[in-house]
Amino acid sequence: MECRGVSHWFGSKRVLFDLNLKVLQGQFLSLVGPSGCGKSTLLRAIVGTHLPLRGEIVLFTGPDGGTAQVVRGPGRDRGIVYQHYSLFPFLNAQQNVAIGLMLDETTIPFRWLRFPTWRRMRREHLDLAAEFLRKVKLQDAMQLYPHEMSGGMRQRVAIAQALIMKPKIILLDEPFGALDEATREELQTMLLELYHENQQAKTRDESPPYTLLIVTHELNEAIYVGDRLVGFSQNWDWRSEGHTEFPGATVVYDKPSPVFHPNETKDVQQFADQRDEIRRIVFSPATVMNRTQHITYGTETSRPA
Ligand SMILES: Nc1ncnc2c1ncn2[C@@H]1O[C@H](COP(=O)(O)OP(=O)(O)OP(=O)(O)O)[C@@H](O)[C@H]1O
Ligand SMILES: [Mg+2]
Repeated sequence: MECRGVSHWFGSKRVLFDLNLKVLQGQFLSLVGPSGCGKSTLLRAIVGTHLPLRGEIVLFTGPDGGTAQVVRGPGRDRGIVYQHYSLFPFLNAQQNVAIGLMLDETTIPFRWLRFPTWRRMRREHLDLAAEFLRKVKLQDAMQLYPHEMSGGMRQRVAIAQALIMKPKIILLDEPFGALDEATREELQTMLLELYHENQQAKTRDESPPYTLLIVTHELNEAIYVGDRLVGFSQNWDWRSEGHTEFPGATVVYDKPSPVFHPNETKDVQQFADQRDEIRRIVFSPATVMNRTQHITYGTETSRPA
């Protein structure tokens, strides 16, 4: 997925400016930035519900990613999970996970006119839903309705809902923001397990199945879950680029972040340096720099692209 020169504004309020970002298949990219800098605005542009006013979002499809497709609206190749779970209250966990496929692959006349085929497909969708619920460790909760689940369980269902569609990229907008610390950590580990599946696929010479962009306010979470850390900020030196008025927030930080194994105990000290650096570069209004100064992801060779 690539954002090319994406800018967005609401009336006279400038939000995003000339955002360029290329996310490679299999990457887990954490996106951080001060409140109101436009992170959710960017996710809405990628999902296709609110297209950017300038620039474009491009998805690369086809077996070798050789076909470029500009995003013009929502599609099943992009999934999103919000902080406040969007489950259907009248469906159990398994049905909630299956519903996306059911709606996408069949129409109401199809369900009426080709009832036997529909029944078979429905079975397949439910079986697949069960498989994805196992992946998010909810194998014992398939029959529970949302009101019978904890917040953490609902977010797992929401993640399974996104995964089952096999999107090219999954967007998570502060997905664990409403959860307590322990539940949050469990879900972070679950995401690392998906990352680990990616790495195993690569060792088999297969393409990694999951690509993820996660927006989070919690810097430890950003560093822990992502293999790449991107920061947006309003505090960059736009005057030096000839603007007389603030044009919007843009990418000011893009670096690799350490990769952890899901079974590894988290050594919090390891996070400290990068966390301090992000606080200084992305979050501090006192730091005003050239926007390319801390964009080094592409040039650091420690991680294969
Ligand atoms: N529909 C809208 N109309 C007008 N202004 C909007 C609209 N949506 C967002 N904004 C403004 O755009 C800016 C960016 O909003 P956005 O929600 O993308 O920020 P964010 O980085 O996700 O913030 P947070 O970290 O608090 O979630 C904000 O100043 C917000 O007030
Ligand atoms: Mg937001």
